[in-house]
Amino acid sequence: MLVANPPILPFNSLSFATMSTYLVTGSGRGLGLAIVQELAKLPADKVSKVLASSRSGPSTELQKVIDASSDRVFWLQLDIVDIESVKQAASRAEQLLGDAGLDFLINNGGVINWQSAENGIDKMYCLNHRFCLTDLSMASS
Ligand SMILES: NC(=O)c1ccc[n+]([C@@H]2O[C@H](COP(=O)([O-])OP(=O)(O)OC[C@H]3O[C@@H](n4cnc5c(N)ncnc54)[C@H](OP(=O)(O)O)[C@@H]3O)[C@@H](O)[C@H]2O)c1
Repeated sequence: MLVANPPILPFNSLSFATMSTYLVTGSGRGLGLAIVQELAKLPADKVSKVLASSRSGPSTELQKVIDASSDRVFWLQLDIVDIESVKQAASRAEQLLGDAGLDFLINNGGVINWQSAENGIDKMYCLNHRFCLTDLSMASS
């Protein structure tokens, strides 16, 4: 169902992909938002659905992309370091994607400064290494 940790490619190199589905973590701002904005610009025969996750509701900028996407971009609640949140997000992703499944998981959400992680270095390690999400995704592939 899933290609975890896909190779890093420029968007114009994704010509091999048709009707692909994506999950981009940390989509409310920064690089994650930029990735979702670029994916949403690609035609539906290349990018069929994009699940854009963030911890709390979609940011204003992400909502604009969702509203303009003709039902191709969806918001997904996800806190990568909370296993219950990961399970709920996986279940919601299955509902949204159906038989198409997930082709690309873009593990973008993360922190650079450990002091910004709620409970310090352990959460930062879990978050930045994204074991929870990737392991769960691979288990359902
Ligand atoms: N910008 C750089 O120069 C640079 C350099 C090296 C690596 N990176 C990495 O690239 C990624 C994006 O960077 P950025 O500059 O766009 O960072 P950013 O603007 O600080 O955004 C970080 C993103 O991570 C998400 N996030 C944080 N904790 C999370 C959690 N527990 N669960 C789910 N999402 C979480 C945030 O989502 P919320 O909206 O929910 O807070 C936010 O969307 C990060 O992984 C960062 O470590 C960036």
